[in-house]
Amino acid sequence: MIKVPFTKAKEEESTVEAVVREPVSTELPKDVPAEMPDPAVEVNNFSLWYGDFQAVTDVSIKFPRKKITAVIGPSGCGKSTLLRGINRMNELIGGVRTQGNVLLEGTDIYADTVDPVEVRRRVGMVFQKPNPFPRSIRDNILFGARVNGYQADEDELVEAALRGAALWDEVNHDLKQSGLALSGGQQQRLCIARAIAVSPEVLLMDEPCSALDPIATLKIEDLMRELAKDYTIIIVTHNMQQAARVSDFTAFMLSDDTARGKLIEFGPTTDLFTNPTDERTEAYITGRFG
Ligand SMILES: Nc1ncnc2c1ncn2[C@@H]1O[C@H](COP(=O)(O)OP(=O)(O)OP(=O)(O)O)[C@@H](O)[C@H]1O
Ligand SMILES: [Mg+2]
Repeated sequence: MIKVPFTKAKEEESTVEAVVREPVSTELPKDVPAEMPDPAVEVNNFSLWYGDFQAVTDVSIKFPRKKITAVIGPSGCGKSTLLRGINRMNELIGGVRTQGNVLLEGTDIYADTVDPVEVRRRVGMVFQKPNPFPRSIRDNILFGARVNGYQADEDELVEAALRGAALWDEVNHDLKQSGLALSGGQQQRLCIARAIAVSPEVLLMDEPCSALDPIATLKIEDLMRELAKDYTIIIVTHNMQQAARVSDFTAFMLSDDTARGKLIEFGPTTDLFTNPTDERTEAYITGRFG
């Protein structure tokens, strides 16, 4: 795991539009099975609105530390919205309002005293479509690190991040080539390298393999298992086989007539896939809807 010195993120980076917050509900979070490991991220009664449109409703979930949790559910049920709620990326979209809280190692990331740039350093994100900057491989890795005040050896950081993302052997002969010149799977691993270069604790991955071929997908899945030794990983996927293969825990979300973006069921992946407690989970994982 990359452990590097960072100074506080630059002030000007944190001037994002403030979200309107509502008081935290006093309701206790839903219980989770007793065997759950310690959570790195705890989402408590979290709701989110885009203007008047409620996209996530009262979600409580504890994401176990250094495990992979898959978030599954039909299109539009709020998976990406929930994910972005965990690193305050939603507030980069105007008109967003949240209720409830999200604790990262016990601290509310939405507290007034918390810098959202620092939150996004600690909780990195990888997107569906690989999105390297149109810069060299080396600069892709160093960009976020520099913004976050990285002050140690840059060559070491580039190598450590690329090794950590299982990309070093394929690219070390030419780190000056553009990140955009890589294959889709390599670009996604470059984005993972860029994410881990700032020493995050949590990695959010929103359908990271959906633009990749099966071989590149398996490479990313292998990499995720490797990364889970050091990071808490939360992955959104539409691929049930992928959720079953790669994740330790699974959360199933759904929108219905009563509310949008609800958590229906959460538990160890083997339990959820072999013995779901909610009939809607069963219907979804067996492909009967969604
Ligand atoms: N920026 C936005 N402004 C307004 N509504 C939004 C915005 N982003 C998402 N929504 C709405 O919020 C709901 C949840 O969207 P979200 O993208 O979180 O779903 P999802 O489960 O990730 O879907 P998919 O599987 O298709 O990616 C949807 O109804 C969507 O239209
Ligand atoms: Mg989505």
